[in-house]
Amino acid sequence: MLESGPEMSLVCLTDFQEHAREHLSKSTRDFIEGGADDSVTRDENIAAFKRIRLRPRYLRDVSEVDTRTTIQGEEISAPICIAPTGFHCLVWPDGEMSTARAAQAAGICYITSTFASCSLEDIVIAAPEGLRWFQLYAHPDLQLNKQLIQRVESLGFKALVITLDAPVCGNRRHDIRNQLRKNLTLTDLQLPKKGNSIPYFQMTPISTSLCWNDLSWFQSITRLPIILKGILTKEDAELAVKHKVQGIIVSNHGGRQLDEVLASIDALTEVVAAVKGKIEVYLDGGVRTGNDVLKALALGARCIFLGRPILWGLAYKGEHGVKEVLNILTNEFHTSMALTGKLKTFFSPDLELKAGWLKNRNSSPSL
Ligand code: FNR
Repeated sequence: MLESGPEMSLVCLTDFQEHAREHLSKSTRDFIEGGADDSVTRDENIAAFKRIRLRPRYLRDVSEVDTRTTIQGEEISAPICIAPTGFHCLVWPDGEMSTARAAQAAGICYITSTFASCSLEDIVIAAPEGLRWFQLYAHPDLQLNKQLIQRVESLGFKALVITLDAPVCGNRRHDIRNQLRKNLTLTDLQLPKKGNSIPYFQMTPISTSLCWNDLSWFQSITRLPIILKGILTKEDAELAVKHKVQGIIVSNHGGRQLDEVLASIDALTEVVAAVKGKIEVYLDGGVRTGNDVLKALALGARCIFLGRPILWGLAYKGEHGVKEVLNILTNEFHTSMALTGKLKTFFSPDLELKAGWLKNRNSSPSL
């Protein structure tokens, strides 16, 4: 058991995971931690980072390491942002409002999920100055998408993130055993409409028929940059560029959708090579340490997004817990930069690989 008094100190992201494991209800813990099927990809997201080795360079004056960068032209304090995850009220009463406040305080981007448990208006009021993007699960009814996107745009969200990898929900065995879909109602989420017993998932169906050609419709109804989340192959990366979207998040949904796809970090190089610098590429999945952030950037990601670690922080102490998670990871990343001789976050993958910042995994006998 961890201590629970004020003297308890959590010093790395996995400490927050341990704390959440011990304090959340079984069904909430399973919902957060779960992967699809055998959870091969969920675990591979972590393991793949650990196979990459760093090659540090010294005598480079690291007295002024700068973790800032930009995404879609907006400055962020570090390339460490918040991935969309649903139902934050399951782990903290204020839910997404606390998450948004922490993101604003940290000066980073928070992608709000379609399945946010707080209203978008309340989230904006909680952190009016924060940089926010909105993640869309496309609804089968195009007009509902249009209304939602226009609302999001008028609320000051700065990009539309369309999730591609969930036309149907992956098989999450724990959630099936816990009957999560039946039991997760608006009442569970402590929303104002108390007593509503319609299962939340049934209220917001996701389109199963979305195609590449539909992207032009989204582009015709919004001026927001469009980011595609869930791309893992060069073929889809090339199509994304061809369809003139503004960014890609390389992601396998934290291993919660199709199991046995490759780890996000292993898909990154292929995607980065395919887009040829034409659009920004980001990554989520398995980032837990400053070295992981450094590796993702050195392989061409502009920034990374955190899924589960944000929920662990939220479960620990709401806004303050999320701030701590972001703070710890940013400090670790700062240290990683200083210890490898990196002064700035703008890494060009070609340059870095040629300069040998990362060890080429294929030629590594230790693999
Ligand atoms: C998610 N993810 C997700 N993605 C999305 O596009 N919309 C969503 O509503 C959700 N909801 C969600 C809930 C929970 C509990 C988890 C764990 C994940 C996926 C998320 O955005 C991201 O891709 C992964 O979580 C990243 O992996 P890590 O950081 O959790 O390893």
